[in-house]
Amino acid sequence: MATTQTHHSVHITHKDHDLDSLQVLPDSYQWVQPDLFPSLQQHSTPLSDTLPLIDLSLPDAPDLIGKALRTWGSFQIINHGVPLSLIHAAQSSAIDLFALPTPYKLKASRTPGTFPGYGIARINSFFPKRMWSESFTIMGSPLEHFRHLWPHDYSKRCDIMAEYDRELKSLCGRLMWIALSELGITREDINWAGPNEDFKTCNAATQLNFYPACPDPDRAMGLGAHTDTTLLTVLHQNNTRGLQILREGRQWVTVEPVAGALVVQVGDMLQIVSNGLYKSPFHQAVVNRTQKRLSVAYLFVPPENVEMSPHKKLLSPTQPPLYRPISWTDFIRIKSNNFDGLSCIRVDVKDEKQVKVG
Ligand code: OGA
Ligand code: NI
Repeated sequence: MATTQTHHSVHITHKDHDLDSLQVLPDSYQWVQPDLFPSLQQHSTPLSDTLPLIDLSLPDAPDLIGKALRTWGSFQIINHGVPLSLIHAAQSSAIDLFALPTPYKLKASRTPGTFPGYGIARINSFFPKRMWSESFTIMGSPLEHFRHLWPHDYSKRCDIMAEYDRELKSLCGRLMWIALSELGITREDINWAGPNEDFKTCNAATQLNFYPACPDPDRAMGLGAHTDTTLLTVLHQNNTRGLQILREGRQWVTVEPVAGALVVQVGDMLQIVSNGLYKSPFHQAVVNRTQKRLSVAYLFVPPENVEMSPHKKLLSPTQPPLYRPISWTDFIRIKSNNFDGLSCIRVDVKDEKQVKVG
C-alpha cells in the first residue's frame, strides 16, 4: 500500500481495456488486498449485524440516526422524500452513459487535476492494481460533457441531473441538522449553513459508478477501500450487492440493496466536525460474475474555503480537539497524496504535552 501517489495513471486512454469485452481477468486487474486493517478477521463467523434501515418519516428516526452514526457511521433510509421516479431516471441515465461506445465516453474524459467527467476512480492511484469500474462525476451543469455524449438528447438528461442535485441537496441539509442535533449542536452554533440555515451554501458532486460483470470476481475489486472526503455521502445502488462497510475495523458487512432506499455515510469532514464521535467508515465495492452493478453517489461537501473544525460544544479539558481546523479545499489536496488523510491533520495530544513538559 503506497501512502503517496504512485506513477499509476488514473486517466483512461484509448489503450485501456474495454471491461465489458474481457473474458479473462488481465493481470493488471488481479487485485492485491492491501494490508490496511490489522484487526480484520478474514475467516471468523460473520457479525450478525446488518446496517440499520431507518424510516425517515417516523418520530424515532433522529434517535436511531444518532445511534447509527456513532456506531456504524452509516445507515439506510426509506421514506426520505426523494421521488423514486427521479432516482430511477438518474439510474437509467447512468446505464445509458456507460453503455456508450468507449470513444464517446473518452470525449467526456476528466482532464488531469479536475473532478468532472468520465474516468476511473481517483483513489486507484493508491493501489498497485486497477479497479473493475468506470465512473462519471457531475459538478454543476454536465451540459458540456452531455452534449458530446448525446448530441441530440442532452437537455432532458441535464434536467434530470439538476433535479437530482436539488432533491439530494435538500435531503442532505435535513440529515445534517439531524446529525448535529443528536450531538447537541443547534442552529445558533453553526455559522456556515447559509442565510436560510439549510446548508444550500454547501457544494456537491453526483458520482455515477459502473461495475461491469466480471469474469473472475473473487480476484478483482470494483472500488478499493476508502473513506469519503465529504460531510455526508448519500448513495443509491441498483438491486445488485457490492457495497461493503467495514464494521469496527473487523469485518466487511455487505449493504443489502433495498428498493428505493438510500445509503447514508459519514464522510471525513463530519468526522472532524463531530470530533470523532461520528466515524467516516471505510467502505469498498466488490463485483460479481453475472450482473452489472450501478450506483449513484451524492457527495455533499462543506463550502469551499470555510475551515471545518471539531465543534467547540463537543470539547472540554477531557475531550480535546482531535483534528486541526482545515477547509475542504486544503483537505482534498492532502487526500490526493495521502490515503489516510485524517491521520495527517490529527492533533496528537500526548505529543503536545510532552513538548510542553520538556
Ligand atoms: C463512492 C463509493 C460505492 C459503490 O463512490 O465513493 O464508495 O457502491 N461507491 O459504488
Ligand atoms: Ni465512497
